Amino acid sequence: MIQQTKNKRVFNHPERFIEGWYWLLPSKDLPKNKVKAVSLLGRDLAVYRTYTGNVVAMDAYCPHMGAHLAEGKVEGESLRCFFHNWKFSADGSCVEIPCLVKTLPLKVNTWPVQEAYGLIWLWTGNEVKLPIPFAPELEKEEVSTCISKIFVKECHPNVVMINAIDAHHFNTVHNFPVEIKFKSEIINPSVITFSNTTKGGKDSWLINLIQPFYKEQGTYSMCYWYGTVGTVTLGPDFLHFYIMFALRMLENGKTEGAMVSMTKRRSGFFGAVFNKLILWVTILVGEYFAKGDTQIFKTIKFNLKTPVWADHSIMEFIDHVEHQTVLQWGSWEQITEGIDSHLTNNP
Ligand code: FES
Ligand SMILES: [Fe+2]
Repeated sequence: MIQQTKNKRVFNHPERFIEGWYWLLPSKDLPKNKVKAVSLLGRDLAVYRTYTGNVVAMDAYCPHMGAHLAEGKVEGESLRCFFHNWKFSADGSCVEIPCLVKTLPLKVNTWPVQEAYGLIWLWTGNEVKLPIPFAPELEKEEVSTCISKIFVKECHPNVVMINAIDAHHFNTVHNFPVEIKFKSEIINPSVITFSNTTKGGKDSWLINLIQPFYKEQGTYSMCYWYGTVGTVTLGPDFLHFYIMFALRMLENGKTEGAMVSMTKRRSGFFGAVFNKLILWVTILVGEYFAKGDTQIFKTIKFNLKTPVWADHSIMEFIDHVEHQTVLQWGSWEQITEGIDSHLTNNP
């Protein structure tokens, strides 16, 4: 019998998360010279786009008297607090205090940010340790993307994520005609993939119909980055669809997610038309993928009390996230307690 899933360091934990890139807001929602208040993983931030187009994310509260800096205004590359007009540069340094001749040596915390797939992402630490998540087949490609949906779910991001590798439910909920068997591969300590290895299923009319398009089997694989961002790759050999689910935890362990359709960018006029068409089909595929489990996510109290062999991919996912860098909701401080005992308890 495999172990149960209670009392984990980070899996399904409502006040802890894994260090990584988390999306803040769609790029198009932050024009030049604008500042927005964003709350991420228990931390309030002021996020602004400078005159030259760079994005800066800084802790929200002014070191003078605590005004929210998103009430202020962007001036060139800097942000000026609304309240007493202290000014902070893009690295968070206080560069001007109107009532003093000289400024004070103050610095607001800023966080690494990058833009990708139409989203602004923030790294929840000072030192960036990973690239922005990508689908393995698209690592070296330029991509066309489309944010097809921003959604909220009542349960924890980890629980939403494992749905894609819950082999058993493909038959029971989504009526797949064949049994799905996943093979996992740990790419690095933050990234794990699960690929379907199912062959055959000749007795099903559906499989017979689509068989000519496959060399061996249709691709269905899921690539997880730090248990929070997952990209599905699926389709016949000649055309793969890629759908990224970028999740982040809300208060009380709920989920907010962005669903991003992506495809390799093809050039030229017809390429652009084809990209649009593929993205449109990908959205439909994604909708189908996300449909069917909605009701479950509203009421589930996840506790895998009785794991069976069909749940083994889920157990591997849990084990993989448990060994990553864990941060505390709100403070974003690293949680180190329990690592040793945890590692020895979880072979
Ligand atoms: S609170 Fe920001 S300048 Fe006073
Ligand atoms: Fe599902």
